[in-house]
Amino acid sequence: MNTNTAYVHGYSSQETRRLGDQADTLATLLHAGTAYPVGSRVLEVGCGVGAQTVHLVRNSPGARIVAVDRSEESLAQARAHLATQEPGAEVTWRTADLFHLPFPARSFDHVFACFVLEHLPAPGRALAALRRVLRPGGTLTVIEGDHGSVLFHPDSHRAHEVIGHQVRLQAAAGGNALLGRQLQPLLRGAGFGDVVIRPRTVYADRTRPSMVEGFTRKTFIAMVESVRDDALGAGLTTAADWDRGIADLRLTADGDGTFHYTFFKAVAVNPGP
Ligand SMILES: C[S@@+](CC[C@H](N)C(=O)[O-])C[C@H]1O[C@@H](n2cnc3c(N)ncnc32)[C@H](O)[C@@H]1O
Repeated sequence: MNTNTAYVHGYSSQETRRLGDQADTLATLLHAGTAYPVGSRVLEVGCGVGAQTVHLVRNSPGARIVAVDRSEESLAQARAHLATQEPGAEVTWRTADLFHLPFPARSFDHVFACFVLEHLPAPGRALAALRRVLRPGGTLTVIEGDHGSVLFHPDSHRAHEVIGHQVRLQAAAGGNALLGRQLQPLLRGAGFGDVVIRPRTVYADRTRPSMVEGFTRKTFIAMVESVRDDALGAGLTTAADWDRGIADLRLTADGDGTFHYTFFKAVAVNPGP
């Protein structure tokens, strides 16, 4: 199977900004409980522009972190981002495909992957590849979204339609925007044990203006908006319907609008051979 498929959100400067906004807004929610011991060997796969790496480094200052992505351009940005945000931190950056990691078996005590599996055509095979480099007793932490968890007010069929187009485009690129709900069976299927899933809910309304701005507008709506050209190009919708759907989605971040989304955070253990 071809595992080298397109990344649905692309590598534009807008996407770099969106990943940064997303990681910073959600850092407490998503990274709570993730701190690795001093000296432990930690692998982050699909680190992208380093948006999560910064938070890993902050929460695990003494860990030996290796961060991998298949995009050299993203890694260059990640290096620069970390140098600005955490100047003293030492991270080893490697360009690599997570399906063919250039490390011997059992090289790491812990592996971390955030928003990566949902873009892969073979997430189960990816998990098996990650288990190979994890020592017995080591942990894997995976964080994924699930667009089926979206609830909002005012509700709008047209807004749900545009989110559905994003889900369809991600599927066409080989990914799965509804992956969060499948983490438990995927991890068990890849041979992991002690799988614990903790849903992490984001809720935004006018009493939480930083969530409205950082999550509803700059993370979620920005993500859906970014696939406009692809949705039109694929003939999924018309420009008028798309723009009406986005306008309705924006209402969820205005006035009395509310927005809910659930991420799924999994921690699992490699039981060994
Ligand atoms: C949505 S981004 C997430 C980046 C980062 N984890 C974050 O949360 O900000 C997905 C990243 O996975 C990387 N990726 C996708 N497939 C990969 C593969 N087979 N091997 C390594 N990296 C991959 C992409 O290049 C991209 O940087």
